[in-house]
Amino acid sequence: MCGIVGAVSSRNIVPVLVQGLQRLEYRGYDSCGVAIHAVSRGSTRPSGLQRARSTARVSELMERVQSDHIQGGTGIAHTRWATHGAPVECNAHPHFSYGATVDAAAEGTAVGRVALVHNGIIENYEALRTRLQAAGYVFASQTDTEIVAHLVDSLYSGDLFEAVQAAVAQLHGAFAIAVMHKDEPQRVVGARAGSPLILGVGQDGSEHFLASDAMALAGVTDQIIYLQEGDLVDLQPGRYWITGQDGRALSAEQRPVRTVQAHSGAAELGPYRHYMQKEIFEQPRAIADTLDGVQGIVPELFGDGAYRVFQVIDSVLILACGTSYYSGCVAKYWLEGIAQIPTQVEVASEYRYRTSVPNPRQLIVTISQSGETADTLAALRHAQSLGHPHTLTICNVATSAMVRECALAYITRAGIEIGVASTKAFTTQLAGLFLLTLALAQSKGRLTEEQEAAHLTAMRHLPVALQAVLALEPQIISWAEDFARMENALFLGRGLHYPIALEGALKLKEISYIHAEAYPAGELKHGPLALVTSAMPVVTVAPNDALLEKLKSNMQEVRARGGVLYVLADADTRIDSEDGIHVIRMPEHYGALSPLLHVVPLQLLAYHTAVARGTDVDKPRNLAKSVTVE
Ligand code: F6R
Repeated sequence: MCGIVGAVSSRNIVPVLVQGLQRLEYRGYDSCGVAIHAVSRGSTRPSGLQRARSTARVSELMERVQSDHIQGGTGIAHTRWATHGAPVECNAHPHFSYGATVDAAAEGTAVGRVALVHNGIIENYEALRTRLQAAGYVFASQTDTEIVAHLVDSLYSGDLFEAVQAAVAQLHGAFAIAVMHKDEPQRVVGARAGSPLILGVGQDGSEHFLASDAMALAGVTDQIIYLQEGDLVDLQPGRYWITGQDGRALSAEQRPVRTVQAHSGAAELGPYRHYMQKEIFEQPRAIADTLDGVQGIVPELFGDGAYRVFQVIDSVLILACGTSYYSGCVAKYWLEGIAQIPTQVEVASEYRYRTSVPNPRQLIVTISQSGETADTLAALRHAQSLGHPHTLTICNVATSAMVRECALAYITRAGIEIGVASTKAFTTQLAGLFLLTLALAQSKGRLTEEQEAAHLTAMRHLPVALQAVLALEPQIISWAEDFARMENALFLGRGLHYPIALEGALKLKEISYIHAEAYPAGELKHGPLALVTSAMPVVTVAPNDALLEKLKSNMQEVRARGGVLYVLADADTRIDSEDGIHVIRMPEHYGALSPLLHVVPLQLLAYHTAVARGTDVDKPRNLAKSVTVE
């Protein structure tokens, strides 16, 4: 997803900006660019706003910047994930405004007046575009961003901060921007309204930075201020200035500097070919870290005040997107089956726009790897606006908006996840959600000490059990060779493992581009059976649970139509390989925690199928890591 880096410094800041973009690369992008208030320093290039843009990788942008000798102390940079307009160079950021009368066709010779980068979406861009065109502005792109550059230009009368303030007041939507003006060579102004933006305070206070994510500044500064909705920030050498929604200056107490240990995005791959593979294999460690320090089940694992909240709530509403939504679907089985608490799970982008019946005694649980997913954040705020006082998040980023805005939280310790396809974030979310189930069950008097001890023992054994599943990789690779030749696949599961089938299908489609669907196995005969042929492999998640015999009947339905089954069967299920049935034996049945184990072979299947098909595993087409736009 889009990323912003900006800086005001007395040194040449171009390498810092481009390296910042490199740290944000894992989030997914399709073009990138940098604009600098350039100093000529003997080169043939004039001083003033200069930019380089590319639809290739950030490394290519770096080469271009070096060969063009672009350097200077004030700059903004961007990775773009296309929303309005194709991923072509003219749509890449930074966007320039050349003023109201300069034809964009003359761009090569015209002098840029305003340079701007933007994350998010401007909803009223069409109306503004019409107005600005009528005022003489010529548009060089199809983006909603370019209108903001022209709008700032149209409002500029010698003070960039005032122009941005006036422009932002006319924008509708969710966005973060960073802007420069040709007449103010040592100034960058930023604004946050719905998309994340942080301010990085330079080590000796002489240089300051803007970024959409603290990770972009890893190794540059760990002194971070999290800007809030409606904040404007003015960066100049040796000083910064923040105003709030009402336009008044904010004090250091209102926007404190925090020390943030941001990981560098450039994590080592070690022996792995891709980050996704590395992250799949990190799961035993990630689960162990997530459970580290959990001595027993107490509500306070989720924060101060959790005890009182858990006493009063009568139901749970889980809101999330994508893979995180599927972890919520697993949790519904746990919360209703173990804690006996009525639970709904809803896709965040649906909930935020529908009329729902608020229940102030319901616990709102958001689940998010990044903690910045626009739809999930909007759903949380929507729930709060409806009068839901009790909010809790299961999140992998302690400094994220999700954690800051929820009253209670459990921070998973998956570590940074770089592969776009979520893997270790999912299993650590499940670990956090299982702890939540136990804590709620205990608060409601539905968990005996013996049960608590047994569940905790099983959880602590998970890293070892996961290692045993990861050892199945060679068998999965042989399945992947078959799948790589297919264009469709069906995934079946029942009960707790139906969401695992959904997650397996999502993993396969997003990185191998094979069309994959998942069904609860009992639904097969109500429609999807019509699709089953020898060209439609059917992956079946078959743990040895109460539904196994029913699932075996569903498998027979597939075999009777010539369908080929790929079955993940627990060791004790008595399902054997035979003609048209390929079986991989999982370890012994793992009870309620079985979904954490069964998802791993499906992650590996998607991974090795994608590798065999030669796709860009860590950066699948059209997708982004952290979806900060609607
Ligand atoms: C799929 C995937 C996405 C995310 C979804 C939510 O592999 O990664 O479906 O799960 O975009 O993201 P978070 O968890 O950051 O809110």
